[in-house]
Amino acid sequence: MSKPRIQLQHVSKRFAGAPGSGAPADALTDISLTLEPGEFVCLLGPSGCGKSTILNLIAGFDRPTSGALLLDGNPIQRPGPERGFVFQQPTLFPWLSVLDNVTFGPRMAGVPASTYLSDARRYLALVGLEGFEHHAPWQLSGGMRQRVALARAWLPGPEILLMDEPFGALDAQTRLMMQELLIDVWTSTRTTILFVTHDVDEALFLADRVLVMSARPGTVREELRVPFERPRDIESLTADPEFGALKRRVLHVVREEARRAVVKEPA
Ligand SMILES: Nc1ncnc2c1ncn2[C@@H]1O[C@H](COP(=O)(O)OP(=O)(O)OP(=O)(O)O)[C@@H](O)[C@H]1O
Ligand SMILES: [Mg+2]
Repeated sequence: MSKPRIQLQHVSKRFAGAPGSGAPADALTDISLTLEPGEFVCLLGPSGCGKSTILNLIAGFDRPTSGALLLDGNPIQRPGPERGFVFQQPTLFPWLSVLDNVTFGPRMAGVPASTYLSDARRYLALVGLEGFEHHAPWQLSGGMRQRVALARAWLPGPEILLMDEPFGALDAQTRLMMQELLIDVWTSTRTTILFVTHDVDEALFLADRVLVMSARPGTVREELRVPFERPRDIESLTADPEFGALKRRVLHVVREEARRAVVKEPA
């Protein structure tokens, strides 16, 4: 077996309460998980269970209260170009063109344009935005903006892509197109992906493995290997009785944890 790309070992995260009044909040308790090189893992769980916290810790935006996070066996101390992030809302600079948004990272790092420009155009073409390079973000639809964010995340060639409900705000048609596109690029790059979603169909369509988290303080409640062969076709997949059975099982756990989360929330 290859060495894990990412390892979380007994990770806990406690946030300080609001100044003056709030008690500290345990967001994660004793999370252990691994991501193998090239693996596509989906993370599901009720709102507030700590999914974004896990992504932020792996990204190096934040530090755990206890436990260890390792990247290729080395402790994660800070963000790095080998870890890309796609947020739920596409965070584009409104005053920059599509192309300048996509190339922002390497430009700021002082990388010569000749090394990234053709790749940037290739990724924009891949996400269906050829001809939109000089548009401003406000001239694009929400789905197009999210595609720009995807091209931007992919340009530095990240080994790991952390995606926080990236397609949550999209309509069903655009979402499916984005899922297929993501799988196409992942198939050719074999980036390791950790993808947060609330949508069980999306998780079963995309992932090699699905992790379902418990209500806050979050821990991994259930882990399922998704057995369907690739390439997957959404229509035949959703018609497969095995898909139905797996979906019911995941939904059952997610609903149970969502109920626990609501009961536990303070009034
Ligand atoms: N910076 C912070 N300061 C204090 N508490 C925080 C902070 N970030 C997150 N939390 C708390 O940690 C818990 C987990 O938050 P997180 O954003 O990771 O949840 P989530 O699973 O991503 O939820 P959602 O599905 O709604 O996005 C929540 O109770 C939240 O209030
Ligand atoms: Mg979140």
